[in-house]
Amino acid sequence: MARYEQVQGTVALITLTNPPVNALSAAVRLGITETVTRALRDPEVKSMVICGENGVFCGGADIREFAKPMSGPPLVPMIAAIEEGEKPVVAAIEGAAFGGGLELALGCHYRIAHSKARVGLPEVTLGLLPAAGGTQRLPRLIGLAPALDLITTGRHVTAQEALKLGIVDQVTDQSALDLAIQFAQQVVGQPLLPRKLSTRQTPCPPDVDGLLEETMAQVKQRARGAMAPIACVQAVRAAATLPYQAGMQKEQELMATLFHSSQARAMQYCFFAQRAVGRWSLSSGAHSGNSKPRPVSKVAVIGLGTMGRGITVALVKAGMSVLAVETNKKQLEIGKQMVSAMLKHDAQKRNATPRLDLLHFTIDLLELKNTDLIIEAVFEDMALKKQVFKELSSVCKADAFLCTNTSGLDVDELAAVTKRPELVVGMHFFAPAHVMKLLEVVHGSRSSPEAVATAMHLGKRLGKVSVLVGNCAGFVGNRMLKPYLEQANFLLEEGATPELVDGALEEFGFPMGVFKMSDLSGLDVGWRIRKEAGLTGPNVDPRDPPRRRQGRRYSPLPDLVCEQGRLGQKNGRGWYLYDKPGGRVATPDPSIHKFLEEYRIKHGISPRQIDRQEVVERCLFALINEGFRSLDDGIAAGPEDIDMIYVFGYGWPRHRGGPMFYAGMVGLPRVLTRLEHYRQAHPEVPHLEPSPLLRRLVASGSPPINKWRDFLQRPHSQL
Ligand code: NAI
Repeated sequence: MARYEQVQGTVALITLTNPPVNALSAAVRLGITETVTRALRDPEVKSMVICGENGVFCGGADIREFAKPMSGPPLVPMIAAIEEGEKPVVAAIEGAAFGGGLELALGCHYRIAHSKARVGLPEVTLGLLPAAGGTQRLPRLIGLAPALDLITTGRHVTAQEALKLGIVDQVTDQSALDLAIQFAQQVVGQPLLPRKLSTRQTPCPPDVDGLLEETMAQVKQRARGAMAPIACVQAVRAAATLPYQAGMQKEQELMATLFHSSQARAMQYCFFAQRAVGRWSLSSGAHSGNSKPRPVSKVAVIGLGTMGRGITVALVKAGMSVLAVETNKKQLEIGKQMVSAMLKHDAQKRNATPRLDLLHFTIDLLELKNTDLIIEAVFEDMALKKQVFKELSSVCKADAFLCTNTSGLDVDELAAVTKRPELVVGMHFFAPAHVMKLLEVVHGSRSSPEAVATAMHLGKRLGKVSVLVGNCAGFVGNRMLKPYLEQANFLLEEGATPELVDGALEEFGFPMGVFKMSDLSGLDVGWRIRKEAGLTGPNVDPRDPPRRRQGRRYSPLPDLVCEQGRLGQKNGRGWYLYDKPGGRVATPDPSIHKFLEEYRIKHGISPRQIDRQEVVERCLFALINEGFRSLDDGIAAGPEDIDMIYVFGYGWPRHRGGPMFYAGMVGLPRVLTRLEHYRQAHPEVPHLEPSPLLRRLVASGSPPINKWRDFLQRPHSQL
């Protein structure tokens, strides 16, 4: 697990060998410990080089070992032995030095990196901190402020940035290993003490306390309840204020708390779930391993509204040629201006040139005849979409894939109007489509495995987390959102304010509460959908009382708000008041409070005190309950799929793992009991009726989340 060779007569070359990323498993740690000891003892050896096999230095700890009892030599003394030894050690960093890999490199006396290498301490993204001296050595090497930035965000930096920061000593376009071996020979005999980071003082600005306080305030705000970033600041503070050994002690104490926390478990679950959702399968036996994506080079986007623009930008950023289509010259020009501006803005941020050459615009569908894949993003209107799909089916080449970005319409109904239903799939992006990481790929009942594989693969090329889902109203994400929004509206009827509901959800960890989110999306979006569904507007059944629709409780509050001309951020007034149309700063609006009071009086509702616990339970347990139903219906393949949809598409706090993981953490019996309680209190709300799957799981002793699939009964599975 660590190969030992002697090169150039006097250099011991230690190569980590644990494919694919040379993770620091127990065997690798043992290998390093033994080979370093051997090199230190061998009088012929004057210096050492540590590198990784296959062009990767080291990807860090082996996360799979976290769940097992510790075995093999621990990292801290292993790295200390390298640093304390009296022979110079050079790290040859190719590919990546992440986490424990970078901590190992920091224990070396010199670091040489290849220009394509990246380094970083991403532990915080797993709910942890770099606990093999990373929080103590990095600040001593690069100074307090840059170390706080890297450790609290977990961001990776390029070799060039690492050189600028002082993390590495040299960068080369040639072989980092060859240069490191040469370097190791040159530094023999030079004083080693100044190269031992544990002996240094952390370079600090004059106002250390001020910097630490300011950073802590920013980190707390960003963390939205996550503990790890806060512990990272505390550990780095120790590097600035305590001697090395005391700092190490602090690092270990903080790590011990994080390591056993539910947050770390949630974030590590997310790490594996994110990878697992890429491996899809269908009941037909097709799966990601046996279904090849077809190469796609020319893509078209139909409709350059909010979504079409973002999708176009995402495609161009991935280096793909895009033909963008609008209905008329005026719309086309507006779309063109917006897309070009977005691409320029993005390129400016990255110090790159915008690839405007990849963009083509037209209002003539006939120009689509050579396109490989089309993504439709016109208004959410079934009749219009059917018309568009009919036309696409006749103008596009016979084997072109036809994809729809619908947020919830029936993909099968669209496929049925084409001559190639097997090439139709949903590609449901999230706004803003060039930023949000989630892509729901919707498998229609006739979609071919090749179409699914191609859409999943395209998502990956765009840097998205693609999740395969079945075809039903709202698919997985929006289907689950419906009971969540419904509960939020009911809470307003019963006595809450938008601020109370949003405050509770933001405290839970969402970046934005439900009403702020609705204002951001535009209140007219849901209004239009509800009108089409006959829930409001002229198609409502005249026999329905105002607060009942289709046999169940209904809150007309969002419709009434729209009728007042309050459409959200876009016109400066929604559930909140904004500084200007398009403004982002929400302030509570007394006229909304008055409107709610009048509404309650009109409908004879006596308002009651609603606490934050009720908000969280009613909104989130209703959403989770629908998640269980989606699992049983075979719309979501597994709980991980739902969780990744919520983490990457809906702002669910990662440190709470996703709704289904959270349900397991809270305890399924508790979720069930609370749903039963609320269902009793609100018998007219069927969404609160606990799902049969939840009941089955509880009756079976609440098995862990990785066993839930064994309890699914899927007579009509779509996946
Ligand atoms: P939008 O109203 O901003 O844009 C629609 C665009 O389509 C307009 O520019 C319109 O001129 C154009 N268009 C209409 N008919 C056309 C035709 N026959 N040919 C070419 N262009 C045509 O709508 P938005 O928000 O971009 O939504 C588009 C689709 O994406 C809808 O199906 C929506 O449900 C879905 N979606 C929307 C999300 C959102 O947050 N806005 C999120 C995810 C999906």
